[in-house]
Amino acid sequence: MTFKSSDNHLDSAKALDQDDALNSFRNKFNFPKAPEGADSLYFCGHSLGLMPKDARTAINTELDSWSTYGVEGHFDGPYPWLPYHENITKSFAHIVGAKETEVVAMNTLTVNLHLMMVSFYRPTKARYKILIENNTFPSDQYAVDSQTRFHGFDYEDAIVELKPREGRKTVDQEDILDQIAELGDSLALVMLGNCNYLSGQCFDISSVAIKAHEVGALCGFNLAHGAGNLLLNLHEDNVDFAVWCSYKYLNSGPGGLAGAFVHEKHLAQSDIPRFEGWWGNNKTTRFEMRRRFDPIPTAEAWQLSNPPIFQLASLKASMNIFDEATMPRIRAKGDKLTSYLEWLLKENCADLLDVTTPKYCPDKQTRGSMLCLKMKGDPKPLVETFGKKGVLLDFREPDILRICPAPLYNSFEDCFKLIQIIKDSV
Ligand SMILES: Cc1ncc(COP(=O)(O)O)c(C=O)c1O
Repeated sequence: MTFKSSDNHLDSAKALDQDDALNSFRNKFNFPKAPEGADSLYFCGHSLGLMPKDARTAINTELDSWSTYGVEGHFDGPYPWLPYHENITKSFAHIVGAKETEVVAMNTLTVNLHLMMVSFYRPTKARYKILIENNTFPSDQYAVDSQTRFHGFDYEDAIVELKPREGRKTVDQEDILDQIAELGDSLALVMLGNCNYLSGQCFDISSVAIKAHEVGALCGFNLAHGAGNLLLNLHEDNVDFAVWCSYKYLNSGPGGLAGAFVHEKHLAQSDIPRFEGWWGNNKTTRFEMRRRFDPIPTAEAWQLSNPPIFQLASLKASMNIFDEATMPRIRAKGDKLTSYLEWLLKENCADLLDVTTPKYCPDKQTRGSMLCLKMKGDPKPLVETFGKKGVLLDFREPDILRICPAPLYNSFEDCFKLIQIIKDSV
């Protein structure tokens, strides 16, 4: 993706916006206000996505059902609550590249990660290791550590961390495959984040899954930063399981419902270990309150409780937007927008910041929309300026900025304005 020196101009940013087929989607979201009352420059979609305007109506609809029907809201009203989570299934399946039977909206992310590991981390004395990234999100680290301890292993021995080579910013894909091969018979599970939350690096899911299976291990992905951001094909890529949250790129609101994927090949296994609850039970007999669990023959069998309807309602409002925009169009705009921001940074602020995230590559997915930057000098003055100017992006101690131009609501003009603020601050 190439830009020319004339693109380093507000008029050019505006022209790129005019050319953008998704430009009008921005109007479907509420932007927080900057100190002077204008819309803020919001680049935090990798942390908490903006509120779809329709989320309020969707939640109010369910409040109305509650006030009108009381308990009968489970069966009555515009969207009965009993099957409410099914309103999300089709959209989730499109977003992660799965069959509808393979996905479910339930719980929250770390909860789902544990539930999946109950089923897919089944260590033996000889095969008990888990391969993760060395800079994975702390909750993922705690989850895998505690799972190995739960099974009686020493996590220092059981957890193997992938590191970038000396002098490299990100992990080489071939090093992941080599590490899997090296761990061989001792490896129980590969559990990677896609994209990595701190570098924005995207791994090649298919080759990781092939290699993991070759050595007899299983393979799961945390798609907290992938769902609604990357083009995913979990079924075809033969991933065993995946989990994701919906409050980042999927704009469902704080603490929004998470997702889980279980590959079809595992759904028919009657002896799969699983923590179970009544919402995973056969829908036709659930209310007969039978003594024995009869699993739904889909990923829904992993559900435990009846889900929070207000959270599902805001998620549904967001899913309507994804259904209309579609992932291929979102990723295509994301690639152009992120490349534009990266190019502007290099043109205007190369002496201030270093981009850690891998470069865009036309024939393979190397990153999504988030750019991770390492500040070369003291980051504090710039971070303070952002606060004063109504710029919302993410600073991680000691020197990392994460900027996410979200294709559904950020514009080329937003990117241009951000760069001017960074330039003017020094
Ligand atoms: C990669 C990753 N894993 C896990 C979590 C924790 O998510 P939750 O609090 O929804 O369990 C986050 C949250 O930002 C995350 O980015």
